[in-house]
Amino acid sequence: MSAFLTVGRHDWPSYLLSLPSRPNPSPSPTTNPTHPIQLQAILHYATSKITPQQSFQEITQSFNVLRKLSPCNFLVFGLGYDSIMWASLNPNGPTLFLEETPEWVTTVLKDAPFLNAKTVPYRTQLKEADRLLTSYKEEPYCHPNKAFLKGNRKCRLALENLPEEVYEKEWDVIMIDAPRGYFPEAPGRMAAIYSAAVMARNRKRVGVTHVFLHDVDRKVERQFAKEFLCMKYKVGGVGRLWHFEIPPNNSSSTHFC
Ligand SMILES: C[S@@+](CC[C@H](N)C(=O)[O-])C[C@H]1O[C@@H](n2cnc3c(N)ncnc32)[C@H](O)[C@@H]1O
Repeated sequence: MSAFLTVGRHDWPSYLLSLPSRPNPSPSPTTNPTHPIQLQAILHYATSKITPQQSFQEITQSFNVLRKLSPCNFLVFGLGYDSIMWASLNPNGPTLFLEETPEWVTTVLKDAPFLNAKTVPYRTQLKEADRLLTSYKEEPYCHPNKAFLKGNRKCRLALENLPEEVYEKEWDVIMIDAPRGYFPEAPGRMAAIYSAAVMARNRKRVGVTHVFLHDVDRKVERQFAKEFLCMKYKVGGVGRLWHFEIPPNNSSSTHFC
């Protein structure tokens, strides 16, 4: 008879609570073999005093989606203490990290060279957020019925100069936890949010795009999410995290929402 974990966190998902506390005496190595990156993650977090910034409840939201969809195409804005965890939750699918600061990419990859991380340039600053939220409406190349990313220099909210692999794939899950948006000269999350909305709307494959946005306690994140990710597509949220499921949309609508 299996012993069940009954102590600790009551917010653990039920399937975890029903895991046997002792290994099966005759485990089959062919079912669910542990991936090397998952072993790396265990080793890393077991020996690190620095933990990811998102809370247990926040991480659980995307964890539950990745559990269902993985292997999937997972795009993460930002490189941080959580990166090894994200990659290990999608061990057999591509997980790509987009990071604004080249020095931070070098620092993180020194300890985790197996992560796929690329530096991305941003053309915005947080202090321009209010103006961008109005002025994009006057730029036809930003309009939802025309919106595209690669090479779209006319729309400042479009991330037009990303590594080719970003444009080549359709991303099933997008986590927006960067770039930095806490001082006026920082790039802010405006272009990441707009570009995630464009990627989701342009999806050709079956299904929705899951977009997670962190730091929604801040005005700019909330405003841009309401404008581009749309509250009607918000399916969940906890703490400072919102979760959207955005369907493909090729209508000629003049509004994102
Ligand atoms: C808001 S943080 C998100 C951090 C992530 N959720 C985590 O748990 O580490 C996003 C951005 O902050 C910057 N950043 C985070 N930690 C940093 C550090 N220790 N040094 C320099 N930049 C850092 C990076 O540019 C990163 O993309």
